[in-house]
Amino acid sequence: MNFNVITLFPKMFEPILGESIIKKARQSGLVDIEITDLRKFAEDKHHTVDDTPYGGGTGMLLKVDVMDRALKEATSNRQQAAGSNEAKQNLPPVPCTLHPIVILLSPQGEKFTSQMAKELAQEENLILICGHYEGFDERIREHLVDKQVSIGDYVLTGGELPAMIMIDAISRFVTGVLPAGAPDEDSHSIEKDGKPALEYPQYTKPAEYNGWKVPDVLISGDHAKIEQWKKANLKSASN
Ligand SMILES: C[S@@+](CC[C@H](N)C(=O)[O-])C[C@H]1O[C@@H](n2cnc3c(N)ncnc32)[C@H](O)[C@@H]1O
Repeated sequence: MNFNVITLFPKMFEPILGESIIKKARQSGLVDIEITDLRKFAEDKHHTVDDTPYGGGTGMLLKVDVMDRALKEATSNRQQAAGSNEAKQNLPPVPCTLHPIVILLSPQGEKFTSQMAKELAQEENLILICGHYEGFDERIREHLVDKQVSIGDYVLTGGELPAMIMIDAISRFVTGVLPAGAPDEDSHSIEKDGKPALEYPQYTKPAEYNGWKVPDVLISGDHAKIEQWKKANLKSASN
């Protein structure tokens, strides 16, 4: 699974995506994350990526021409990487017709859910565009992207955190990213209504701390009763 993120702040990603489970997934080649610096695609000497809106208004908009050039490079990089053993060894790239899905991070987009993460994990190549400042020239939405996604009903200063949230949640659905048989592997399953899986409360040693006791049944050794208790205490992860 290949991600390419187009951003004005490329340094934000490595501290988060270079740790823990996503780090391992990248090291084992299950997930590849490439960061494209949007500013590299500005053509004037000031590296201008945004400008004022026609007709007036507050704030600056990311420019359609700069974004188009960045996307063309990200797309061709992804297409080359799709056959990528050769690319990794600096051999000539294997031609590939796979078109990446281009996603624009936007507070007005379709709400990101577990169900969407699961579906996107079936894709080979995703390009995530992070906005900043007031927003985008509308032609970016109209002509350059396949989908607009919001991570929730609030407005952030940029699309970088939403992109990282999407990469994390989608990667969990890539086979092999969560260890086989690990208890956590179940936690990415989805209920019919698209909500995260049901979970029951879990406890570890000590059995009592500060007077807060683990339920007796869990330390009883009675497996049938324990299973009954787990079923009776299932709750949605979003509750
Ligand atoms: C300050 S916001 C832009 C606000 C702009 N008025 C709008 O409604 O699109 C800057 C960027 O952060 C990202 N962003 C902010 N909130 C988001 C959210 N809830 N979900 C996804 N992306 C978000 C988008 O990429 C957006 O272009």
